[in-house]
Amino acid sequence: MTDSRQSQAKSEISFTVNGTPRIVRAYPMERLLDVLRHQLELTGTKEGCGEGECGSCSVLMDGTLVNSCLVPVLQATGTSIVTIEGFAAGDALHVLQEAFLERGGAQCGICTPGMILAALHLMTIKPDSTMEEIREGLSGNLCRCTGYSQILDAVAEAARRRMTA
Ligand code: FES
Ligand code: FES
Repeated sequence: MTDSRQSQAKSEISFTVNGTPRIVRAYPMERLLDVLRHQLELTGTKEGCGEGECGSCSVLMDGTLVNSCLVPVLQATGTSIVTIEGFAAGDALHVLQEAFLERGGAQCGICTPGMILAALHLMTIKPDSTMEEIREGLSGNLCRCTGYSQILDAVAEAARRRMTA
């Protein structure tokens, strides 16, 4: 943490994470990513670049996809956040998780939580996305392993299953 972040006093900050109200004590400019991972122990949200470029740290904040490495925790006050941990219902896999498993959409797994949240966001705002729209919708999420085609296939398959369910 930089000196400028530390120079401010810690505050109590309230928000909802995966449906549960949470109160944290944090520096206002502390990264939401760090608060999620270190205070709330929600380590499913990954850090890749730490600069807003890779999407590994993606979470949903009031339904909008954000890079949590760029969000000061104060900005999350009163919002509802969804991380990968809040994704499936109990032990049942979400259709996106099933499709990623079946299509080989996850290899090392660093990008996977962010990819799945980005895909969920896309399926929510545009359930009938074409492959080109899926590619565009996931363009803020980088993957070093898969070459993307398995990920795009997985998202297309999940969207198809959801549309025909
Ligand atoms: S770690 Fe946040 S965008 Fe890369
Ligand atoms: S599966 Fe390794 S970075 Fe995407």
